[in-house]
Amino acid sequence: MPESGKAQAKKRILTGDRPTGRLHLGHYVGSLKSRVRLQHEYDVTLIVADLHMLTTKPTRGDIERIAENARGLALDYLAAGIDPALTAIYLQSAVRETYELNLILEMLITVNRLTRVPSIKDMARAANLSDEEMPFGLLGYPVLQAADILLPRAHLVPVGKDNESHVEVAREVARRFNQMYGEVFPIPEVLVGEVPTLLGTDGQGKMSKSLGNAIYLSDDEAAVNKKVRGMFTDPNRVHADVPGRVEGNPVFQYHDAFNPDRAQVEDFKKRYREGDIGDVEVKDALAGAINDFLAPMRERYRRYEADAGLVDQVIIDGTERMRAAAADTMKEVRKAMGLSGSLNRISRAAEKRRKRLGE
Ligand code: TRP
Repeated sequence: MPESGKAQAKKRILTGDRPTGRLHLGHYVGSLKSRVRLQHEYDVTLIVADLHMLTTKPTRGDIERIAENARGLALDYLAAGIDPALTAIYLQSAVRETYELNLILEMLITVNRLTRVPSIKDMARAANLSDEEMPFGLLGYPVLQAADILLPRAHLVPVGKDNESHVEVAREVARRFNQMYGEVFPIPEVLVGEVPTLLGTDGQGKMSKSLGNAIYLSDDEAAVNKKVRGMFTDPNRVHADVPGRVEGNPVFQYHDAFNPDRAQVEDFKKRYREGDIGDVEVKDALAGAINDFLAPMRERYRRYEADAGLVDQVIIDGTERMRAAAADTMKEVRKAMGLSGSLNRISRAAEKRRKRLGE
């Protein structure tokens, strides 16, 4: 959260997710892990981006589930190790300055530039929207995201690979604003997670809630065991003595990401390539590693679930903090642009006129 004016203020991070479902291992390696690590060094704000959901034509039911999904998302953050004493979590739609800054930033980028953002077409396709049905607001998705990033005047944005191009848009509009109106915004840097894209358990593409190939942070031990047992491996490997492929094999990608026993992982890879180990052994060790990895999170889920009011209060407090920061930034924005000057001039003229008429 910005603390402008304080000399030794920490640098700021703004990042977050749309409240469309629970967080999974892909989210964790993509950006959640760095958010947890960086909350000690930076002032971190996490956005629950419900306005971004409006870009792909949500149903009334989707919108009604926002509150519930926002709580689920906040709970996942807290279980993953986000400390509410260090990090603010806020609801995007409750911060009006978001809408205001969004409109101003829309003037600082071309339609042509936005049509080249690759994820926009992907999102349209995922939402079953044809080219003719492309909403104006979906084209503006990265601009709205830029408003989120620039409102707290963030310096760093840890996101998954798929959001890298959006942060690039934020950098461009920040630069443009500063050139045109004066230095208001730091140029935000992007930070992409160390495992850029985690495959789904089906090995067919990235882990995603909509594809049903995800292992959730909130999955219990039985669910993890079952999902890992059913994972896609090398389809050509009909028997344990057939040499297998490690590259592009989600079982080994997960071992690399979640099994801290590097020697075991290297041994498994070697034997797998030589056809000297069965899938079951590799998978059982993986399920064990993932369950060990999730164990501290399960402990925190138990703690926060026992006190549901706590999660709600975190969102309420975080939203208040963000509102204060956003109001501060918008004051700077209006001042830099001279926007608030127009009504002031009109008011002064009205005042003079009243005086002249002797009121
Ligand atoms: N676009 C992000 C997603 O894929 C959500 C988001 C909205 C976001 N605003 C943001 C992420 C600002 C980082 C910074 O769900």
